[in-house]
Amino acid sequence: MPRRALVIVAACTLLLRVTGLSAQDEMRSIWSGVYTAEQADRGKAVYLEACAGCHGAGLLGNDEVPPMKGPHFMSDWNTQSVADLVARIHDTMPLDNPGSVSTTNATDLVAYLLQSNDIPAGDTELSANAGFQTQIRITMVNPQAQ
Ligand code: HEC
Repeated sequence: MPRRALVIVAACTLLLRVTGLSAQDEMRSIWSGVYTAEQADRGKAVYLEACAGCHGAGLLGNDEVPPMKGPHFMSDWNTQSVADLVARIHDTMPLDNPGSVSTTNATDLVAYLLQSNDIPAGDTELSANAGFQTQIRITMVNPQAQ
């Protein structure tokens, strides 16, 4: 291999290693603008279709069904990752038909739930990739505001 090519390969390997490491170390926060308003709108449509019948159109639940917004919901998910919440929805909800919501729709649903809990939207859609979602932590309070 010519020397020049070797240098390029070495530089790319180094770059990959550096970015790989920082991705592992850095947990992002749900408060940093991790979904878009359009995505939350799509999630709302799914919610009204598949979830509102039990959790309520206003997301407040009832005596038997937990709310999807407010301190009860946020404290249940506090310190867990977005991947955990998407998996919970995808794997166990709707209670009467688990597995019927695709990962993409469950991701849009989470965008809607974040919006409903006054977590600000951003410019980039929340990816449906589980590895990516694992890096985003749910917290009740904005860590930047503490
Ligand atoms: C048939 C009624 C029913 C439907 C439809 C339903 N759920 Fe649920 N859901 C429940 C009940 C009851 C619980 C609490 C018991 C449990 O966790 O299994 C629950 C729990 C949850 C939780 C955990 C709440 C917490 O505080 O940890 C989430 C998140 C959730 N549901 C999301 C959804 C979403 C999103 C949809 C729509 C795709 C949906 N559910 C549809 C009845 C329902």
